[in-house]
Amino acid sequence: MRALLFTRPAPDSSASVVVDVPPPTATPGRLVIDVEHAGVNFVDVMARRGDPGYVVDWPHPPGLEVVGLVAHVSEGSGFHPGERVAAHTGRGGLAEQVVAEESLTRHVPDQVGGPAAAIAPLTLATALLLVGGAAPRGEDLSLLMHSAGGGVGAAVAQVAPLLGVSRLVGTVGSEKRRRQAHEAGWPEVVLRGDDLDDRLTSAAPGGFDLVLDPVGTLLSSDLRHLAAGGRVVVFGNPAGGALGSSPDLVELIRANASVGGFSASRLAAARPDRVGRALADALEHLAASRVSVAVDVVDGLEQVPAVLDALATGRHAGKSVVRLHPA
Ligand SMILES: NC(=O)c1ccc[n+]([C@@H]2O[C@H](COP(=O)([O-])OP(=O)(O)OC[C@H]3O[C@@H](n4cnc5c(N)ncnc54)[C@H](OP(=O)(O)O)[C@@H]3O)[C@@H](O)[C@H]2O)c1
Repeated sequence: MRALLFTRPAPDSSASVVVDVPPPTATPGRLVIDVEHAGVNFVDVMARRGDPGYVVDWPHPPGLEVVGLVAHVSEGSGFHPGERVAAHTGRGGLAEQVVAEESLTRHVPDQVGGPAAAIAPLTLATALLLVGGAAPRGEDLSLLMHSAGGGVGAAVAQVAPLLGVSRLVGTVGSEKRRRQAHEAGWPEVVLRGDDLDDRLTSAAPGGFDLVLDPVGTLLSSDLRHLAAGGRVVVFGNPAGGALGSSPDLVELIRANASVGGFSASRLAAARPDRVGRALADALEHLAASRVSVAVDVVDGLEQVPAVLDALATGRHAGKSVVRLHPA
């Protein structure tokens, strides 16, 4: 079977190859999926660069989220060959076949299309876990998110209103992504620039209840715009550099502020029940048409390195999924 591999750390597609590799096998608790569609994510860019903690060994098979048909199960499995499933794969999803933990695999309702289901395991599940797990309890919550024009940004815009958020403000790094963020459902979008603080203060004079920060270098600003009792969640590091120091604890006490981190893959390893539940919720929301994220479908694994190049250089628009063409 064919798979995309990163043969060594690289800032571009110079070490990305699509090659024949031995097919995976099912073992107790793990099934094999014939992949139909797979999500392409910024996390794949970080793995391609070899950012610390993203790759165990080389060559690395990227790909964290797939939809497809169950190909093989081992004895005692709750799944059967031919069933349509979506799975958080952790790695190896950008391939014709992938092995997935059954605890991170869920059946896909008939009415959910392949491209939409392919972004449920990581992109939509991450949005649900970030907002549902981290938001202070209550109604009429306000939420600020950076990089609102990307894939996770689009997902957050869709799920946040389902989870008690009534005020959504996004930031973006370019004018192009401001338009994308609006199209994805963000009613207010601020271009990050010298006047960011002023713009956020006028958008939410009392601060935000939840700040979702995938940029990682904006924590001081995040804390300045946090409401009392609010929470900042840092969950990305797209530049791949140092993220700066932790905030002063006395300042956190005085501001009634919380700062946390989030990693879907680490949570999948430690608490697969929570990630599996988020995947099931995402598929239910899609089936009920409560969420809908625009997805750009590219054909074949050979197209993926160019999508990753566009993501790595900030040129990418929206959310991409690759359609597989098994031999
Ligand atoms: N912790 C987790 O479990 C988890 C799970 C999924 C995704 N993530 C993170 O969430 C973020 C969004 O992921 P995504 O797949 O949906 O990607 P994306 O948002 O579609 O694309 C990445 C975005 O990052 C921003 N960015 C900021 N600095 C950048 C840099 N130096 N190089 C390139 N882009 C830069 C750009 O938006 P602006 O310029 O508008 O800021 C860009 O659109 C990523 O940082 C990713 O690592 C984390």
